[in-house]
Amino acid sequence: MVGTAKSVELHFHALPGVDDGPVTLEESVELVRQAAAQGTETVVATPHVRTDFVTDVLGLGERVEELQAALAADGVPIELRRGAELGHDMVGRLSQNELESIAQGPAASPWLLVESPFEGIEEEFHSATDELRDRGFGVLVAHPERSADASFYDSAGLRRELAAGSLAQVNAQSITGAHGPEAQWAALALIDRGLVTVVSSDAHGLTRPPLLREAAAHLVEHGIDPLLCRTLVGGGPRRLLARGIPRAAALVA
Ligand SMILES: [Fe+2]
Repeated sequence: MVGTAKSVELHFHALPGVDDGPVTLEESVELVRQAAAQGTETVVATPHVRTDFVTDVLGLGERVEELQAALAADGVPIELRRGAELGHDMVGRLSQNELESIAQGPAASPWLLVESPFEGIEEEFHSATDELRDRGFGVLVAHPERSADASFYDSAGLRRELAAGSLAQVNAQSITGAHGPEAQWAALALIDRGLVTVVSSDAHGLTRPPLLREAAAHLVEHGIDPLLCRTLVGGGPRRLLARGIPRAAALVA
């Protein structure tokens, strides 16, 4: 890790058997143990909330408690929080209570992690995030660098989101090149342009492990200020948990 400050994972598929993340409880424990070994103190468990994976949002609390207990029994020193990677097409299907159950940040300034569609950040996505803002939630856009929005549209969709008050989270695996050269180029370009608030692993299992340490080292090699690197994996996400994302008025770019 760059420096000694503890890091925070805001995007991490930690729960076993609920999505395309770890399959067994043992794999989940090992995955979170690897995060702790990299200097991570808090992991927000963010299963896919989509029609093809988790739809019973209120059942996630029990799953998080089960994993937290297994981590404690194995002596893994980490705080696990309940969250979600929300598919934008689920926004209109979830009640206020369900959205609140997977939101992060203080009650006065809650926010949700919303998955960027690979095919692009388009009108339906903006409508969904506008609805979230209308319902009181800020938005953290997950891995926009992996979307066609970055590859083909110069991140126009992301920039419209940022103008509306959303923030951006980039994947550690994109930075290291594990998601391919296009995602790597896009991740570095977005960070260079100051458009990114958080880097998270988006870990999915032992074949897609936590990589914050490697990503931070790669950013320093790329010429990014080491202080900014620490902020992207530590201070930035920690502030979002403590202070939230202000709900900005929905703007039309
Ligand atoms: Fe994810």
